[in-house]
Amino acid sequence: MMSSETSMIGKFKLDDIYCGDSLKLMKEIPPATIDLIVTDPPFAIDFKAKRNNYNRTQERVLEGYNEIPKEKYYEFSVEWMKEAYRILKKTGSMYVFSGWTNLKDILNALDDVGFITINHLIWKYQFGVFTKRKYVTSHYHILFVVKDEKEYKFNKIEHYPEDVWIINREYWTGKIKTPTKLPVELVKKILLFSSNEGDIVFDPFIGSGTVAVVAKMLGRHYLGFEIVPDYCEFAKQRLSNIQMSLFSYINGKNFRGE
Ligand SMILES: C[S@@+](CC[C@H](N)C(=O)[O-])C[C@H]1O[C@@H](n2cnc3c(N)ncnc32)[C@H](O)[C@@H]1O
Repeated sequence: MMSSETSMIGKFKLDDIYCGDSLKLMKEIPPATIDLIVTDPPFAIDFKAKRNNYNRTQERVLEGYNEIPKEKYYEFSVEWMKEAYRILKKTGSMYVFSGWTNLKDILNALDDVGFITINHLIWKYQFGVFTKRKYVTSHYHILFVVKDEKEYKFNKIEHYPEDVWIINREYWTGKIKTPTKLPVELVKKILLFSSNEGDIVFDPFIGSGTVAVVAKMLGRHYLGFEIVPDYCEFAKQRLSNIQMSLFSYINGKNFRGE
């Protein structure tokens, strides 16, 4: 259970990132303690982390991206989603990112574990990979799922919130990068709709730490796991570098959009 004096959640300190295997670490999170899970799990494709695309030069991309073999992807998904279901509060919700190639396994695993799908969102981004004889992929799927369709939290911050989100990928220059990274604006939108200040937001596959960075900026608590030690250190460093100036990151507004 969470204790307010110690800000612990089971054996984990809140507002921290742990380096290790989520399949093992998640088992140590007590049941019904997490308000929101936002995660972009590893893919099961022949993803080349060091591929030189959208402004990433090869030397600057950290090595070690941990892929899952295609034939084990459903099994892997069920394993972590079972834990996700157990640790979410009754009012909690989860957003899972997926490319179209693994979507079947993700959808089946979510259903089989017992989640209820509320929305199937599409994130449309710029930067496709050049193709000769097929269409350029420039979208991602985001499954918005809950445990209890009567009790889940939803702050209707837009009058007419549509299920297709057009948000650009971020263009990082000159710094070390992890090979995949969600845009801050995208994660911010999710957190504003599906969590409140003081809530606990968890990402079992945190990569460069975006979910934690946005949670910190919006006054939410966070917890994250990452298996590749270099990414884990990178995320920790990124969090410790957050400056108040970043609160005016989007549209010159206060980060809460006010
Ligand atoms: C698609 S990336 C997440 C990117 C992240 N959303 C960001 O904005 O940087 C998936 C991450 O999961 C990590 N990962 C893969 N298997 C894992 C496991 N068993 N436990 C913890 N992390 C894992 C990978 O190393 C990778 O960093």
